[in-house]
Amino acid sequence: MGYRVAVIGATGNVGREMLKTMVERRFPADDVIALASERSAGSEVSYGEDEVLKVRDLAKFDFKGVDIALSSPGAKVSAVHTPRAGAAGCVVIDNTSYFRMDPDVPLVVPEVNAKAIAGYTKKNIIANPNCSTMQMVVALKPLHDRWTIKRVVVATYQSVSGAGKEAMDELFNQTRSIYVNDPIRPERFTKQIAFNVIPHIDVFMEDGSTKEEWKMAVETRKILDPEILVHATCVRVPVFIGHSEAVNVEFANPIDENEAREALKKAPGVVVVDHRANEGYVTPVEAAGEDPVYVSRIRKDPTIKNGLSFWCVSDNLRKGAALNAVQIAEVLARDYLK
Ligand SMILES: NC(=O)c1ccc[n+]([C@@H]2O[C@H](COP(=O)([O-])OP(=O)(O)OC[C@H]3O[C@@H](n4cnc5c(N)ncnc54)[C@H](OP(=O)(O)O)[C@@H]3O)[C@@H](O)[C@H]2O)c1
Repeated sequence: MGYRVAVIGATGNVGREMLKTMVERRFPADDVIALASERSAGSEVSYGEDEVLKVRDLAKFDFKGVDIALSSPGAKVSAVHTPRAGAAGCVVIDNTSYFRMDPDVPLVVPEVNAKAIAGYTKKNIIANPNCSTMQMVVALKPLHDRWTIKRVVVATYQSVSGAGKEAMDELFNQTRSIYVNDPIRPERFTKQIAFNVIPHIDVFMEDGSTKEEWKMAVETRKILDPEILVHATCVRVPVFIGHSEAVNVEFANPIDENEAREALKKAPGVVVVDHRANEGYVTPVEAAGEDPVYVSRIRKDPTIKNGLSFWCVSDNLRKGAALNAVQIAEVLARDYLK
């Protein structure tokens, strides 16, 4: 017997990738329901090669009898509908930021803290971390287990797909406008994104950091270890898919870069590509459409006592969102909902 699964935000970047990932990984679903806003109710989304799902209006949908919902309709919408689905007995795996720091909601990356899934019973909600946190903790986990991380300083290079499908259109349209000499009108982004970089993702906080930077710090602590300090600078770059990160880590114990490389090679979800030569590292173009978190440019930081730097790239729509949600659903189905 398979599960009844709802995909909330099924017409969006993450929702479409969730449907694709479920098919690819043969998630045991008997019935898949595509939900989005009233605007797209009645339209169709693909589910695998042959199946087409009619999109239904989330606001009118009753979750009774649905086992699992994979949700990505934005935080405000999730705030309203996720508790409603949970109360109806459906376990919601939520991609939005709304419930991530709720102490009664586990924040899960299966390669790092799969056991935390057990805590879903309090609210029937499991949160998926932010895409930039997600790929970083997958790479940090094997290093923390062995050498104990004290502090992380990270700069991100985040693709426009992390801001939704309209943001991808904005990069495309601005790029075209520049070539044909049309005026540029920033809409989703605060400044021109084509041929530019913007050191501003999400809203500003009182201390001068942005909420995206704050999320990387608090989410890493919730998932990996409450003692780890994280200082992030999050930057939007004109890349369609794939987030990159330059990560610098300070450890409590002396670390050898070759041993670190070996530990990363053995870690689940990580692929090391580190040849110290032309093309011997991964860029977002190669990571797009792929599952792993790629780690390159592993090297000792000689300016601090126990320091290591590396470059980390992953598809933000897959491991950064859809794949992680489906992996959580797989553990849930295998170990909890039997
Ligand atoms: N993109 C990433 O890398 C990433 C990673 C992790 C988490 N997330 C989070 O996932 C969420 C969605 O991101 P996205 O990139 O998929 O955005 P998106 O491409 O803009 O898609 C948004 C989806 O939400 C639906 N939606 C919007 N308002 C709704 C409403 N009132 N009721 C029901 N459905 C509604 C949209 O349906 P319509 O087509 O009907 O408007 C669409 O299916 C965001 O919270 C984002 O922060 C994204």
